[in-house]
Amino acid sequence: MSDKKNTVTVTDNSTGKSYDFNLLEGTIGPKVIDIRKLYAETGMFTYDPGFTSTASCESGLTYIDGFEGLLQHRGYSIEDLAENSNFLEVCYLLLHGELPSKQEMEKFDNTITNHTLIHEQIRHFFQGFRRDAHPMAIMIGVVGALSAFYHDSLDITDEKQREIAAHRLIAKMPTIAALTYKYSIGQPFMYPQNDLSYAENFLYMTFATPTEDYKVSPILADAMDKIFILHADHEQNASTSTVRLAGSSKANPFACIASGIASLWGPAHGGANEAVLSMLAEIGHKDNIPKYLAKAKDKNDPFRLMGFGHRVYKNYDPRAQVMRKACHEVLEELKIDDPMLDLAMELEKIALEDEYFVQRKLFPNVDFYSGIILKAMGFPTSMFTVLFALARTVGWISQWKEMIEEPTQKIGRPRQLFTGPTKRDYVDIDKR
Ligand code: SDX
Repeated sequence: MSDKKNTVTVTDNSTGKSYDFNLLEGTIGPKVIDIRKLYAETGMFTYDPGFTSTASCESGLTYIDGFEGLLQHRGYSIEDLAENSNFLEVCYLLLHGELPSKQEMEKFDNTITNHTLIHEQIRHFFQGFRRDAHPMAIMIGVVGALSAFYHDSLDITDEKQREIAAHRLIAKMPTIAALTYKYSIGQPFMYPQNDLSYAENFLYMTFATPTEDYKVSPILADAMDKIFILHADHEQNASTSTVRLAGSSKANPFACIASGIASLWGPAHGGANEAVLSMLAEIGHKDNIPKYLAKAKDKNDPFRLMGFGHRVYKNYDPRAQVMRKACHEVLEELKIDDPMLDLAMELEKIALEDEYFVQRKLFPNVDFYSGIILKAMGFPTSMFTVLFALARTVGWISQWKEMIEEPTQKIGRPRQLFTGPTKRDYVDIDKR
């Protein structure tokens, strides 16, 4: 019998029966009630739509304390990493669990650089889309199709193949994202340059043209790299859980990442950064803020304050703080006086003093400021979620790798509370 101290007892008052379940404790964060034997012992399920109280897995990658507004990757705070690290080093940290030595970093950097090209045939995929296709639709299609080209990294039971697939995805996402943008504006595709850093290369492939030399601004490259770091991973969010569930069926890694891109596209999730800009454009002027706050509070109005609120953070999203600072720096450097930023700051100030938002602990999240900085950098709003997907790919593939390497890993298969009709006999159409 397990020690009573480390168990939870559930009593079914309809039968008077009691059941003990073990309490499990991680290195930090809430304890969990191990209910894996619940159905076998009680014939009952738990019920938790939206998984607000459910730990779907054990993980060592990212820890979030929503009440304190903390975010740590393998123990390092997001503020520390955004200030002192770079995106590729964070990729190494998420994939391998430790910060790399100088030699390890050099090797990893070279490996990623040498995977930035995509198969030449893949370039033809873009021609099949309309020029005005949403870039996320193209990303889902092209990334899912990578499994048709890289047959030597599809065997998920082979550690080497899993590693090559992870490297290919991290390296090729910027190339595919830049091609998606070029296709949408009818400009020629640009090839990656091996002498540029990860962020510089992406900006080069996105904004350079074959007609003239293009110097990547170090300020923009630094801001881009920081934005990638802020979006790298975020525990078991909707798109990461989608990738884990897809991966649990042993689907290949490229298909799993495509499923993550699909889930991220929603405006309640990664699509919010694009939705924030549309919302600010709709509000238009700070005099209209009270009207839109009233709409956000009106249960009969579908309008929500995009970029506000979070399932986990009931405090400031630490990423939003870093993003807001970067926003001011970039706009100052570029000498851009964007009224959207002033409007966003006024909206944030008023909302944070409003009882409805205070009572519900609704604070700005990572998406509230990211759109403003991306717009200042020259990206169209339709590309904002593509950049989120580009950066989150390392989180998705690291979580996927952790799941595949989990010895107890099994296919995810939730149950339900059935509220439909019970058994009834078929009635011929002429008797209905
Ligand atoms: C991301 O999970 C992650 O980690 C995601 C992410 C990541 O890095 O992967 O952090 C990225 O997706 C950030 C979130 C981006 N989405 C948005 O900014 C869209 C706007 N936000 C809302 O849709 C909402 O806040 C969610 C979806 C983010 C969270 O919703 P929850 O946890 O389901 O909260 P809820 O809907 O139960 O809200 C609780 C209350 C409700 O009011 P009551 O029923 O209690 O009266 O707060 C209200 C909601 O109506 N509310 C809002 C609101 N968000 C919640 N009211 C107005 N505006 C909002 N934005």
